[in-house]
Amino acid sequence: MTTRINPSILAADWANLEHELGRIATADLVHVDIMDNHFVPNLTFGLQMVERLQQVSPIPLDVHLMIDDPDRWAPAYAEAGAFSVTFHAEAAGEPVSLARRLRQIGARAGIALKPGTDATPYLDLLPEFDQVLVMTVEPGFGGQSFIHETMPKLARVADAVHDAGLDVWLQVDGGITADTIGIAAEAGADTFVAGSAVFNGDVPADRIASLRASAAAHPHRHAPRHR
Ligand code: DX5
Ligand code: ZN
Repeated sequence: MTTRINPSILAADWANLEHELGRIATADLVHVDIMDNHFVPNLTFGLQMVERLQQVSPIPLDVHLMIDDPDRWAPAYAEAGAFSVTFHAEAAGEPVSLARRLRQIGARAGIALKPGTDATPYLDLLPEFDQVLVMTVEPGFGGQSFIHETMPKLARVADAVHDAGLDVWLQVDGGITADTIGIAAEAGADTFVAGSAVFNGDVPADRIASLRASAAAHPHRHAPRHR
C-alpha cells in the first residue's frame, strides 16, 4: 500500500513560496488550497498563482478547489498542469462530466466531501474519479482539530473502492498530525494532507518523514495480512 504525504502550502510562508516548495521536495505532491470566500469563508489565491507554482515546484501539484461553480473554473487548473484537481461534491453541478473533462485534459480527477456530506450518492460514481477526498475538518482554515466522526465514512468509501477493484486514492485533509495519521490510515486513507504539522517546525522534511513512519505503523484496512 503506497502512502502519500501531501504538505499543504496554506501553512507555508507565502512570501517565500519557491523556497518553501524546496523544503518539501521529499513529499509526494504539494497540496494547493484554493478558497473563494464563497464556498468557504476564507480567501487564498487562484489560477495565476497555480500557474507560477507549477513552474517552480519540484513535486506535482494536488489542487483542492474550495470554490463555487467548479464546473466553470476547474478545467483551467488542469490546463495549467496540475497533477490532480479535486472539486467539492457540494458545489459541483455535473460532477461526472466535470471529472471526465479534467481527465481528458490530462489531470487526475478528485471529488471532495465535507464532514457532513453523505458518501452514498457518490459510491456508484467512483469509476469516474482518481481520488476521493474525505475532509477531516470543515474546509476553510488550517490548524483545526481532526474530526474523528468522519472515519466511518472514510472506511465505507475504502470498502467500496476495494470491493469494486478500483485504483482510487483516498485522501484525508485537516488536522492530520503524527497522532491522527494512523487513525486515518487504519480507516482506509492512503494520501494524507498536512499543513501545520509539516510547516510548524524547523525542518519540514523531518516532519514529512515522521508522518510517513506513523502512517506505515498503522496497517491499512485492506493491506495484505501476510506482510
Ligand atoms: C482546510 C484545507 C487544508 C488545510 C489543512 O480547509 O483544505 O488543506 O491546509 O491544514 P492543517 O493540516 O493545518 O489542518
Ligand atoms: Zn485542502
